[in-house]
Amino acid sequence: MNATAVASQGLAGIIAGESAVCSVEQGKLIYRGYEIHDLAENATFEEVAYLLILGDKPTAGQLSAFKKELAEARSLPQDVVNLIKECATAPYTHPMDALRTVVSYLAHFDPDCQDISAEAEVRKAKRLTAQIGTIIGHMQNAIDGRDIVAPDPSLSYAANLLYMMRGEKPTAEEEHIVDVSLILYAEHDFNASTFTGRVIAGTLSDLHGAITGAIAALKGPLHGGANEAAMEMLKEIGTLDNVESFMQQAFATKRKIMGFGHRVYKNGDHRADILHKLGRAYAEKKGGDAVKWFDIGERVQKIMRDEKNILPNVDFPCGMTYFVMGIPVPQYTPIFVASRITGWCAHVIEQHADRKLIRPLSSYTGPTERKWNG
Ligand code: SDX
Repeated sequence: MNATAVASQGLAGIIAGESAVCSVEQGKLIYRGYEIHDLAENATFEEVAYLLILGDKPTAGQLSAFKKELAEARSLPQDVVNLIKECATAPYTHPMDALRTVVSYLAHFDPDCQDISAEAEVRKAKRLTAQIGTIIGHMQNAIDGRDIVAPDPSLSYAANLLYMMRGEKPTAEEEHIVDVSLILYAEHDFNASTFTGRVIAGTLSDLHGAITGAIAALKGPLHGGANEAAMEMLKEIGTLDNVESFMQQAFATKRKIMGFGHRVYKNGDHRADILHKLGRAYAEKKGGDAVKWFDIGERVQKIMRDEKNILPNVDFPCGMTYFVMGIPVPQYTPIFVASRITGWCAHVIEQHADRKLIRPLSSYTGPTERKWNG
């Protein structure tokens, strides 16, 4: 190891490079200069996707051309549709595994696959963003055993995503909630999946390869997979009366409470409250059992805050919100991908422009030198 290097478990606190895409601060979260509450309130996901991939807020003309391009790129080659059906219904599959395989396969159909110029990367970023929504829709159709629902180019990204999964157009409120969740999930500087994508891009490998690796990294429950794991945990708790005993048992066994804590945020995740409010309001209107999940979730939050001083991250309200909207749990992390693809692409483009290999050092903990023959 280089004598000047400092070991940090999990690279905690280490600045691993420069980026103009996003700033994650204790006080705020900024995408290319715009604060997350401003974006959640005033922008659409397509506008944020443009901002991240192309670097600036689009003009009205740029936005309408971008939306048209995305809508036109939603359809997939028949071979890809066939692979989606096979992967989504394979015996040991999770939709994140199927999504990873299909994104990798899509490279073979992309005319720009081997071209890592900035222009080609932008073209691929738009295509992949459009295609991922369609993959999720088709996967869900295959899982449900129904005919494939073709994308509807007249619908927004969020509305089309829900439409393709369910075969029914969402209400304006459902479209809005998913649109906001996509904005919140779109970007978060050097998180594990983005860093994975940048490491791959740093070797000057291609965008599809970088995104395939990023999807694999996002799947884990310590990262994006937490939105599914959080909802599974709430289902395990089941009733408000069980919360206290569940939590005490979790503390006694050092079980991680999914959807809580964050490597960077120590005073809470700016995104969590935005989604929690929207999800709770939707649940209250829906009535029936829906509010129960927010009541249980809020009790969990209170105990975590009072006893551990640990706050929810964005994945906690996401789990409850998507659940009360009837979205199947195994699709929560794929939907995260449908959004984060935009941030990943922005980082891959930045990394390719940088042309710098990422290759840190390790601190060796193995045996001291020994002889093979004695
Ligand atoms: C995302 O990085 C990003 O930006 C990611 C993300 C993005 O947009 O890309 O924001 C998305 O991945 C959100 C995080 C989703 N993961 C989870 O919700 C899983 C549960 N959370 C944790 O396991 C944990 O908080 C991490 C993985 C998120 C962060 O882990 P760290 O920074 O390595 O912290 P740690 O595990 O070492 O915890 C420090 C202390 C420990 O206690 P002590 O041993 O010091 O006594 O805090 C405790 C931990 O036990 N702790 C928790 C906890 N999170 C931290 N205890 C119980 N439940 C938790 N969730």
